[in-house]
Amino acid sequence: MDTRQILRLLIVLSGLNGACDALFCNCTAPQCEKDGYKCETNGACVASTSVIKGQEQHVRLCIQKEDLVPPGQPFYCLSAEGLMNTHCCYSDYCNSIDLRLPTVTNGPGSGQDWGPVELTAVVVGPVFVLCVLVLLGLVLFQHHQRAYGHRQRLEVEDPSTEHMFLAKDKTLQDLIYDLSTSGSGSGLPLFVQRTVARTIVLQEIIGKGRFGEVWRGKWRGGDVAVKIFSSREERSWFREAEIYQTIMLRHENILGFIAADNKDNGTWTQLWLVSDYHENGSLFDYLNRYSVTIEGMIKLALSAASGLAHLHMEILGTQGKPGIAHRDLKSKNILVKKNCTCAIADLGLAVRHESVSDTIDIAPNQRVGTKRYMAPEVLEETINMRHFDSFKCADIYALGLVYWEIARRCNAGGIHEEYQLPYYDLVPSDPSIEEMRKVVCDQRLRPNIPNWWQSYEALRVMGKIMRECWYANGAARLTALRIKKTLSQLSVDEDMKI
Ligand SMILES: *[C@@H]1O[C@H](CO)[C@@H](O)[C@H](O)[C@H]1NC(C)=O
Repeated sequence: MDTRQILRLLIVLSGLNGACDALFCNCTAPQCEKDGYKCETNGACVASTSVIKGQEQHVRLCIQKEDLVPPGQPFYCLSAEGLMNTHCCYSDYCNSIDLRLPTVTNGPGSGQDWGPVELTAVVVGPVFVLCVLVLLGLVLFQHHQRAYGHRQRLEVEDPSTEHMFLAKDKTLQDLIYDLSTSGSGSGLPLFVQRTVARTIVLQEIIGKGRFGEVWRGKWRGGDVAVKIFSSREERSWFREAEIYQTIMLRHENILGFIAADNKDNGTWTQLWLVSDYHENGSLFDYLNRYSVTIEGMIKLALSAASGLAHLHMEILGTQGKPGIAHRDLKSKNILVKKNCTCAIADLGLAVRHESVSDTIDIAPNQRVGTKRYMAPEVLEETINMRHFDSFKCADIYALGLVYWEIARRCNAGGIHEEYQLPYYDLVPSDPSIEEMRKVVCDQRLRPNIPNWWQSYEALRVMGKIMRECWYANGAARLTALRIKKTLSQLSVDEDMKI
């Protein structure tokens, strides 16, 4: 490199060249033919020479700035000893050169006898070549994967990690434990997820919805739930997988995520989401089947509030999380665990709050939740979509409805009512937005809170919370954290062990 080139390089690297970002390079790619075998870039010119099947190959290309990673030693600029000579440079047409063919360099010492050095070379040489071949294989494999559409983020990771995670005798519990202690904070490595997903044996269908089906499956003797999305619902699958994978969401009252997988079986893509399995099913199923005691009611309500509070809360720091609003909270999207606490599920519609820029990454998904549970401002479309708190307030309204469903099934003094959906007496089944709007916004009606609830402290408190969740003005509603505190206090007053 001469001094001018070095200067140019320095200028490019320091980014001081301002408007004259464009760099022209010699280009051998077929798509450069129409431009007279040249290309323009904001990054670097690269020339590389290799021998493939005994044929000399000279390749000259442009590399975009964003592809120059890692900085200082970009992958694209690396030579592979004995296979490929590569050179990156930063001045116009600087890659119009023919690099020498790669040669395997011999170590020092060229005596006739096979001394220890030569012997070592004989042993180490082939091993080295083998390593290079394996590396090349990996690079080609990765390239192949990339060429296969936007299968995202399939990282080439140290295969030993897979062993760490997937040793034969590991159960799901071990796996989750590894996960919570590895501190990576965002779920199992993707290839582990894929391997887990592809070794699950589906057992029985346990639910159906507009998104697709839910199955109980077996993995290494343990039960898992597998949500299989219809291809129409790809966005929900993607959204949910994305949220679970980018954020540390492990919380006892949020459904535990295990793996996401998109399996292409040739004719269509199967979209899987694997999570913990809870045999009690959804809160909706549970309340239909059983009535609950006062303690049971508080436990369900408090755990649901804890889950929602964790979801809503922004936590700063490396192990932190952004605030998340659920947007489709209802009894069918809450699961009941063995210990009769709740786990919030179905994040396919969730939105995240980026507090640094104070923006919301709105899910590119037109589905806006379940009409029956829509807050008045959502029904009227007056909700301020740019303000993250408005989504939290809409969640709280829905939580109030869920509380009403629970409280009706509370077996206090021998009285409890049949299970009913909120507004069962005011709107038809599968109501339209218009029908909901009339009742909730125009007539300002809410589910009935019976008078006799006043005679039981727990039901009185629950009734009060519901009213404060149902204000027409979203900002006036309680927060999940507030509800959690109120119910914690109630559980202490009721002498519960939690
Ligand atoms: C590219 O480089 C080759 C080899 O040095 C040269 O023959 C050719 O003219 C160059 N093409 C352009 C467009 O500079």
